[in-house]
Amino acid sequence: MTSPGTGVGHGKLILCGEHAVVYGHPALAFAVTLSTTVQLRPHQGPTVIDSPHADPRVRDALCTVLPTEGIRAFVRTEVPVGRGMGSSAALAVAVVRAQHPELEGQALIDAAMPIERAFHGNPSGLDVAVSALGGGLSFRKGPPMEMQPLELGDWHIVVLDSGSPGDTRAQVAGVAARRPDIDVHLERIGALVAEARNVLHDAPALGALLDENHALLRAIGVSTPALDDLVDMARGAGALGAKLAGAGGGGVVLALCADPTPVLDAARARGIAALPARPAPRHGAHP
Ligand code: MEV
Repeated sequence: MTSPGTGVGHGKLILCGEHAVVYGHPALAFAVTLSTTVQLRPHQGPTVIDSPHADPRVRDALCTVLPTEGIRAFVRTEVPVGRGMGSSAALAVAVVRAQHPELEGQALIDAAMPIERAFHGNPSGLDVAVSALGGGLSFRKGPPMEMQPLELGDWHIVVLDSGSPGDTRAQVAGVAARRPDIDVHLERIGALVAEARNVLHDAPALGALLDENHALLRAIGVSTPALDDLVDMARGAGALGAKLAGAGGGGVVLALCADPTPVLDAARARGIAALPARPAPRHGAHP
């Protein structure tokens, strides 16, 4: 339970399908237990945003929904910013929940989307949907958005941090500029996601598809040498598959593992920040 005027939004990881999802292909993702909390308190005078992030987009985004006067908004987050883990969507969902605790499902997603747009320009809605609904999700942009809950397999995910941020808006714009030459890769990503959905409980088969997804993300120009290096390291340490997760250009790699320990150990031996990701529980009924 959260106190009145307080809302929480989860971060997320995209198992497969990022970027292609912007063009109507499906994607699979899950909410992680890392979250953002927004607390709104009455305040005399112009609205104040109290956030640990200096990023002016936090203020601009929150001001798309908050009144210009009378609120002090306290933002606290565990979701790493600029790491492809859905920090802006978590913020959007948290502030809408703080203002409108009665909203759920599609209504919550619709209310949070303008805030996500203030950050990213042309978001698919995947990050907001996952943050709002929790659990695992199969998503297609629509309209209307198609969302189905996913039962994830009995495997582990390790998140490896490249140490540098990615800029989702810039990466999405870069992909748009490289179309139509790269459309063949976007289509293959879409087909691969449909295959992945059928092998969610067959970790080696799923891992092979994640490897292919990473190669396609490289081909559309959103990977970096640091991300490729983390993918190679994870595979060398026994991961069943690995790929960048999120918009790329920086951020994180996710590694699918039967046993996370060797990948965590390999990362720590090289001084790479690594953490096991646990899916956050689902919230209520799906729309
Ligand atoms: C960013 O987390 C995922 C992208 O597919 C953009 C989007 O879906 O809005 C790159």
